[in-house]
Amino acid sequence: MTMDLAQPPAAGSSMLQSGPFRGPVSPHPPRRAATGLPDTRSMTTRVPDSPLSPAAAADPRDPLGLAADAPLLAGWLNWMRLVEDGRLTPMATPGHKQRQDLTGAVVAGDAPLYGGVDTIKHADELLADAHARAAALWGADWCRFSVAGSTHGNQAFCLAIGQPGQEVIITRTLHRSLLLGLVMAGLRPVWVRPEIDPASGLPAAVAVQTVRDALAAHPAAAGVILGDPSYVGTTGDLAGHAQAAHEAGVPLIVDAAWAAYLGFHPDLPAHAIAAGADALVTSAHKTLPAYTQGALLLARTERLDVARLNRAFEATHTTSPAGSIVASIDAARALLARDGLRLCGRLVSGVAAVRQRLREVPGVDVLDGPGVDPAKLVVLLAGTGAHGSLVEADLIAAGMPVEMGDRDTVVPIVSIADDEGHLAAFTEELIAAIERHRGEPRRPAATAAWTVVPQTVLSPREAFFARNETVTAAAAVGRVSAELVAPYPPGVPVLAPGELITAGALDALREVAADGGRIAYAADPALATFQVVAH
Ligand SMILES: Cc1ncc(COP(=O)(O)O)c(C=O)c1O
Repeated sequence: MTMDLAQPPAAGSSMLQSGPFRGPVSPHPPRRAATGLPDTRSMTTRVPDSPLSPAAAADPRDPLGLAADAPLLAGWLNWMRLVEDGRLTPMATPGHKQRQDLTGAVVAGDAPLYGGVDTIKHADELLADAHARAAALWGADWCRFSVAGSTHGNQAFCLAIGQPGQEVIITRTLHRSLLLGLVMAGLRPVWVRPEIDPASGLPAAVAVQTVRDALAAHPAAAGVILGDPSYVGTTGDLAGHAQAAHEAGVPLIVDAAWAAYLGFHPDLPAHAIAAGADALVTSAHKTLPAYTQGALLLARTERLDVARLNRAFEATHTTSPAGSIVASIDAARALLARDGLRLCGRLVSGVAAVRQRLREVPGVDVLDGPGVDPAKLVVLLAGTGAHGSLVEADLIAAGMPVEMGDRDTVVPIVSIADDEGHLAAFTEELIAAIERHRGEPRRPAATAAWTVVPQTVLSPREAFFARNETVTAAAAVGRVSAELVAPYPPGVPVLAPGELITAGALDALREVAADGGRIAYAADPALATFQVVAH
């Protein structure tokens, strides 16, 4: 289906010893700093090889030699060497003390950033170096690595703009993290909605004119926040959005959680920063070879204040970031910098091949066309009559879990880690599952997440903190929701704090639940009762 709405293996756990510690660390002799106090820089983490030396590249734990350009990865590797050699008796967190004879291999590879990847006093220097390298790669002048996903990134950007009570132009097909970001920051949403593709029932991008109109009607808005690409990979005119926002004197912030690879191959759309956006958040863990939870926040700071960005980032970030997570973000960035063109080329051609093969199957369609990310695979099942949840269950049983399966759609995540053979095997398994569940073709139906048209009565923050009560579903109709309820995936709230609860919204949620969908964040996931703002 064409949519044109214009708009190498990870290191094994064997690296870690589980027995008693064999002796003290033998670091470089402590240097004396100008203060007369010992300079603890690298006291625990530096082994005789410099982290950026060729020797680091020969480490089997870094098969592609990325540490030469990845300071946090180099620090993590050094720490792991000390662990493996039994040269550590850490009297600091984490409490597992690098032992695997207690909670087992689940802690393998865990190193704190502070006091692991480098000393508590000096890890910030390595971190700043890694941030600078990432900022340079994306053409940004500010970057932070998060260990709390794009969720944290979205919320940090909400905290970085405007004042409590100020309006913000924001897509209603937003991820729930942004909605909670509005609660935290006290921003009042001016909703903009994407076009819905009538053929697939899926959302396209938000039109530039829609944002322009919203900015014209709300001249005091603090900024524009869009999700692009959408959950289903539809992309819009980000350059046009940036121009509209900048003409209004406000920043454009883009949640690109699903597409960290954008901009790294000529066949891929430019990433948001290159398109002119002021800020971009993306989950390194979703589509790059990085640890779960790893995310990148990038910004150009002409319209965003650096000190405020840093405060906003730190406000809700842990004080104990996992060194393994930030090192993996650093490594993924180094990989993109060096091999991104080749790997993203393989990604795009791999997805194209899967799309072509799937189109040969009667009734199967895929999202495709100028308004769709060429690296995103979205499989449309309505023409086969197969139910996506049953197809998904078969794929799980085959050891090939996908990101999402609802009635009409299956969304597998393809990444630069997938090779041709892997993709071919998955495609045939998917086709076999579709054939097993083939039925009467049906018209696709747009799910609640994409079609919700809210009536916002209170700001999300007012409703979140208001006195609330629990009422039956029948009594909830016509009341103001105090809670956020989202079918997950995709995590777009169907009910949000401050919005009027309609019979239509409840029906839509019940439909998702009846279809086997997960209803997330509701106080009562069975949907018998709802939390509403008290009279
Ligand atoms: C559009 C969008 N933004 C943000 C997020 C949050 O990402 P993370 O899971 O990395 O916190 C998600 C998660 O699925 C998402 O779909």
